[in-house]
Amino acid sequence: MEVIICPDERAAANLVARVIAHELHARPQLVLGLATGRTMEKVYDELARQYREEKLDFSLCRTFNLDEYIGLPPTDPHSYRHYMHQQLFSRVNIDPRNAHLPDGMAKDLKAECDKYEADIRDCGGIDLQLLGIGRSGHIGFNEPLSALRSRTRDKALTPATIEQNAPLFGGDPKKVPRRAITMGVGTILDAHRIVVLVTGQEKAEIVAKAVEGPITSMVTASVLQLHPRCTVVVDEATAGKLQGTEYYRWIFENEPDWAEFR
Ligand code: F6R
Repeated sequence: MEVIICPDERAAANLVARVIAHELHARPQLVLGLATGRTMEKVYDELARQYREEKLDFSLCRTFNLDEYIGLPPTDPHSYRHYMHQQLFSRVNIDPRNAHLPDGMAKDLKAECDKYEADIRDCGGIDLQLLGIGRSGHIGFNEPLSALRSRTRDKALTPATIEQNAPLFGGDPKKVPRRAITMGVGTILDAHRIVVLVTGQEKAEIVAKAVEGPITSMVTASVLQLHPRCTVVVDEATAGKLQGTEYYRWIFENEPDWAEFR
């Protein structure tokens, strides 16, 4: 695992967007795992800018989102399908047939989850998975005590996550769906490369647990310590409770792989 500390939220999001763009240039048919949430909005703004101004090409790219609420149709403004359309898909030249999200309206949820896993496999697996971390320490909607080898399935959201996402539902926690389909922890770990973006002081404690604490299903993000190619990008506020910041900064300044991103 590597940790990169950026001066602020904007710089952190821009760095993540540049990593995605770099991978997309290298492999135009990239299989990209995507996340939703407020943290990702600046990443999608920057990718849309690069498409407009620098001709970043998404025409061959395949995407798989981490999760979708159960019971919300794709047209619902709170669905993750709608979020992705607004934030990215409608702003770049991605082929809609290549943009996958689980169907939260599926009658047979188990069959839908199995199909999602099969679709990822048929594309050759995820090349680059983008992740955020929730206040509960979740990745995707893998809430505390999620099996660390779990695959795509439906999960109940914790009260902390319902509270975290309530602002997107007009501030009313009662309007937040109680369940979601999410890639499993095992599904996420299968990605060839993982880039995690976390910003804001309120995530400082959970990031310290995920990066420097013990691996535990109580903080599912901590399992990322097992991944051979995982980069965690944070801003100064989020880095506030990390112990090893001096070393992390040294790596970013000295590793040749990061030269073009400095
Ligand atoms: C989103 C997702 C979640 C979020 C996390 C952080 O698809 O799977 O794990 O990445 O809840 O959300 P924000 O960025 O809104 O704090």
